[in-house]
Order: sequence, then C-alpha cells, then structure tokens
Amino acid sequence: MYKKFFIQTFGCQMNEHDSEVMAGLLEEIFYIPTTDIAEADFILLNTCCIREKAESKVLSMLGEMKKYKAKKPDLIIGVCGCMIQQKNIVPKILHASPYVSLMFGTNNMNKLPDYLQQIAKTSQPIYEIVDEDSDADLKLPASRQFPFKAYTNIMYGCNNYCTYCIVPFVRGRERSRRMDDIVEEVRGLAADGVVEIMLLGQNVDSYGNDFEEDVSFADLLREVDKIDGIKRIRFMTSHPKDFSLELIDVIKNSWHICPSLHLPVQSGSNEVLKRMNRKYTREHYLDIVNNIRAAIPDVSLTTDIIVGFPGETEEMFQETVDLVETVGFDNAFSFIYSKRPGTAAAKFPDDTPLAEKKERLQRLNQSLSKWSHHHNKKYEGKIVEVLVEGTSKNDDNMLSGRTDTAKTVIFPGDKSLVGKFVNVKITTAQTWILKGKLEEKE
Ligand code: SAH
Ligand code: SF4
Ligand code: F3S
Repeated sequence: MYKKFFIQTFGCQMNEHDSEVMAGLLEEIFYIPTTDIAEADFILLNTCCIREKAESKVLSMLGEMKKYKAKKPDLIIGVCGCMIQQKNIVPKILHASPYVSLMFGTNNMNKLPDYLQQIAKTSQPIYEIVDEDSDADLKLPASRQFPFKAYTNIMYGCNNYCTYCIVPFVRGRERSRRMDDIVEEVRGLAADGVVEIMLLGQNVDSYGNDFEEDVSFADLLREVDKIDGIKRIRFMTSHPKDFSLELIDVIKNSWHICPSLHLPVQSGSNEVLKRMNRKYTREHYLDIVNNIRAAIPDVSLTTDIIVGFPGETEEMFQETVDLVETVGFDNAFSFIYSKRPGTAAAKFPDDTPLAEKKERLQRLNQSLSKWSHHHNKKYEGKIVEVLVEGTSKNDDNMLSGRTDTAKTVIFPGDKSLVGKFVNVKITTAQTWILKGKLEEKE
C-alpha cells in the first residue's frame, strides 16, 4: 500500500530544505522514506550546478541508477533542482540516462505529488521546466531532518549576478516571503520542539527590498528573536555589500542570534572583486569585520573564497592570502573557480593553468587551517554550551554537537542527549573540531 522514496540531495542548505519540503509532500500522498536506496519505489536526485564537480557527481549517480531500474522495472527515477533549470539539460540527461522518467526544476516542485499520480496512471514520463519564478508566499509542508533544528526560507532567488555564479539563472529573481508568514512558521516550529532556526536566503541582507513597505532583515531578526522557545537563530548567507551597522547592532542586542557570521569575501583583490561584480572593496570588507569584532568580540567569522578566477594573477592571489591573514577566519570554504556556461565570467579570458590554481588553493588552505586551529585553541579548558545534534559518524558512543559559534564538539555521552543543550568542557582543540567531556549542569 505504502510506496517508499529515497531522496539524494546535492548542494546547499536551500536544496536540503527543498528536499524536506518534497519529503513532506510525498508523505501526504502515502509515500514513506527509506534509507535503503535498493528498496525504494521512487528515487529523486535533487541537484546542484554551482560548480562542474557538483554536476558530475549527479551524472555519475544517475549512471548507477541503471542497475536499480533493471532490477525493478516499476521504479521511478526523478531528477529535480537547480541543474534542471539550465537550458537544454533534459535531452542531455536523457541521452546518458534514458530511464529517467521525471524531471522538474526549482519553480514547480510543489507539483511533485501530481506528477507521480499522473505517471502511475499513464506510465508516461514527465519533463516539465517552468521559467516563471515560483510564488514566495506558498506554504508547503516539510518533513524535517532534525526534530530540534529547522530551516526557514525567508527569500528565494538572487538579483546579484556575480559574474561567476549560476544561481540567479537557476533560482530566479529575488522574492522575499512576508514577515508574518515567516514569523508564523517559526512559531509553529517552536511549538513543535524546534530550538534552533536557520533563516535561509542567497542574500539575506536584501530581505524586504522587493516590498513596497519599508521592511528590512534587521526588522525580521528582531521579530524572530522574540519568539518563545527558539534558543538559537542563525542565518545564511550575508552579502558584504549590504551588511549594515544596524544589523550588527541587532545581533549584539538580541537574546538568541548566534555570534557566528558567514560573510563570503570571494577574493582579497579589488580588481578581481570588481570583475566578479561583488560591489564592495577589500577595504570595505575589512571595515565591516572591524565593526563586527568591535561590537561582538567573541564572534566567529567564516567565509567563502574562490581561487583562480579568470585573470587572477599571483599578485592578486597574494592579496587574498593577505586578507585571510589579516582577518584570521574561524573557518572557510575555498573553491577553485569553475566555469559555468551562460554566466558573464564564462567569456573572460582565463590563462592560468589548472595545476597552478590547485597549487594556489593548497597554499590558501594552509593559511585557513592555521587560523582555524588558532581559534579552536582558545577554547581549550573552557566550558561551552553545546546543542547535541547526533552521534559521531565513526563512534556510536560519542556525541556530536555545536557551540553557538558553530564549532563542532565531539564528546562521550548517551544518545538520549540528542536534541538537548549540555555543557561540555573542551579538552583538546584540533584543526576543525573540538573534543571535550560532559560537565554536570548546576
Ligand atoms: N549566495 C551565497 C552563496 C552562493 S554559492 C553568496 O553570495 O555567497 C556558495 C559559494 O560557492 C559562493 O560563495 C562561492 O564562493 C562559490 N561559487 C559560486 N559559483 C562558483 C563558481 N562558478 N566556481 C567556484 N566557486 C563558486
Ligand atoms: Fe551567486 Fe552572488 Fe547571488 Fe551569491 S550573491 S547567489 S554568489 S550571484
Ligand atoms: Fe544551492 Fe547549488 Fe542551487 S549551491 S542554490 S543547490 S546551484
């Protein structure tokens, strides 16, 4: 009677949350989740195309699907998400994997139940891509991954057109959700036992810019901060061009907003930043960092960096390393530039050999890990409050959780503590994680 589904998610938190929503939609039509792909009646790949590597992972997993389809002819294999929103992708996927019988993009995922019912009735494949941006006010159910922490979308799409980036093409224009809807959703989550909320948008600082009335991200944060039961508020992603002093003030004076900020810098060279269309300078970025640290001294700062953007010289790369050394980030994601068809940078001349880009990435990563270890060291001997997220990947007797500064802490403890706040004394600081032991709460 029940059918089983398996969703594989690629890419960012936005996609993870979309997968939760699609799981919610599937459960409404009597599908149940399975963790064993071999027993699924419906396999869905929710895809990402931010870099070429993300796409090749999807294509290789699609190749593997062939064997499941051969064993189970009724199996429905679907592909959705950002990759599908690109031009001419459907024939390309069908050419390599003709057994895919469902494809849809980011604007029509709410129709997933209809699609499956139609396929069950007619046995005909459905490939439907909608170019018109989806409705920002749509309320959809979600089957959340964690009972104690949740994602909430505050806006969709992006208007920034950084020249390397595919997101504005696959996620459409910026659309903010109504503040009342967001607050109501977070209240509902809190009533459901959620204690940590992550507000999601490609550029949260421009929340509300598309409204007639004057509503800002700072206003939204103040409202969410008042909601009973929510103990930790995080958000992603901030854009340095819109990051305001008002926002720093709101974070500083809030009860529950975590002192942890992800502020992608991408490059430390003004020339590269200009060609990336980031609309800020290195000096402006450093100013923001100084303001944040002056107001919130124990803040943890993380960033994203692209190495080997077209035309990046060794000197320009050195300016990035220099910025990293100046700021001393707590953590960072670093990427080698990947050419995305259709973006402006795809046409920029790019004469740096890949081997050299890889070597730059290595040098950058050395500096990044040195700083991560430096910041982690400061925790040794301290007692921190940790929200327990689960057992450690390698050892069932170890728990894994996070501090309000988003540091991962591993310590021995019982599974019954998952979802709870505990105090942990940090004994050892490693480069990327902290190790410790439970402290009794007074
Ligand atoms: N909206 C967010 C996140 C975008 S995607 C932001 O503005 O930061 C996450 C990260 O992927 C980006 O910050 C960037 O560092 C990286 N990225 C995006 N496009 C890329 C590309 N073509 N090649 C390499 N890295 C890329
Ligand atoms: Fe991409 Fe730039 Fe938009 Fe971020 S702000 S999603 S990097 S275009
Ligand atoms: Fe996210 Fe990848 Fe799409 S980073 S928005 S899933 S292209």
